[in-house]
Amino acid sequence: MSAETRQLYLDLMKKTLTYTLWPEPPIPLMQSDYGRHAISRAMVSILSKVFGAMGIELCRESNFTERQRAEGHIWPAYAHTMIGIRRLENLQQCIEVVLDEHIEGDLIEAGVWRGGACIFMRAVLAAFQVSDRRVFVADSFEGLPKPDAGKHPADEGDRLHVHSFLSVSEEEVADNFRKYGLLDDQVIFLKGWFKNTLYSTSINQLSLMRLDGDMYGSTMDALEALYPKLSTGGFCVVDDYALPGCRAAVDDYRESHGMKSEMREIDWTGRYWRKD
Ligand SMILES: C[S@@+](CC[C@H](N)C(=O)[O-])C[C@H]1O[C@@H](n2cnc3c(N)ncnc32)[C@H](O)[C@@H]1O
Repeated sequence: MSAETRQLYLDLMKKTLTYTLWPEPPIPLMQSDYGRHAISRAMVSILSKVFGAMGIELCRESNFTERQRAEGHIWPAYAHTMIGIRRLENLQQCIEVVLDEHIEGDLIEAGVWRGGACIFMRAVLAAFQVSDRRVFVADSFEGLPKPDAGKHPADEGDRLHVHSFLSVSEEEVADNFRKYGLLDDQVIFLKGWFKNTLYSTSINQLSLMRLDGDMYGSTMDALEALYPKLSTGGFCVVDDYALPGCRAAVDDYRESHGMKSEMREIDWTGRYWRKD
């Protein structure tokens, strides 16, 4: 494949995975229950079931701008990733450096939702005909954990675990890989809470780790388990630096390990650095 064709394929993947080729469709009310009062949620649920039985889906108009969608500011209805174009571009650039500089190790994302960022990692490997690196796809596949405020006070009051929108099954994620023709034995699923799965002995060495678990505990669990396995020169990419819990976990981990490597900005929330 020529470099130009490869770039065209990867650009098309970015646009497809983020659903930015098409306008954001109306959003089913059941999919957008976040932030709504419990009584209102219950009413929407009952009405959706009544109308659903008649084959009618209750939706609201989506008023997201193209920019909000491209920059990954929203929880999208149909996209396979919510991280936006810029953070996918960063992922591509990091993997290209890993391949150029022969930095050893597999790739992992901890917190995959519908799998789009991991699908893109596998697409980059395919585009460069790399068959000796794996993509680890780590998630509970049942949403975020309840906060453990005793252990991680920064997570106190966190409500992300109540959102069924953030709970996507392993079968659905595998099916998304299959739709792009990218489900094969280079893709390894790690199902369960990070604190239990990320110490898996099947992960030997990493060249890139992408953290997208939103909370302090999830970010810290992933850093503690994975960072020691990251090769020198490898990339640590953080999706949620705009969220106070994630930011605090990253800052605490870097400080407690005396890490001085420059943290670079990807966009309004994405950050990354290379391991010294
Ligand atoms: C914001 S979504 C990830 C978005 C995704 N990277 C994308 O490309 O759109 C957060 C994901 O992290 C998972 N998650 C968060 N904390 C976790 C934990 N401690 N263990 C396992 N999964 C977790 C949730 O199940 C959810 O799928």
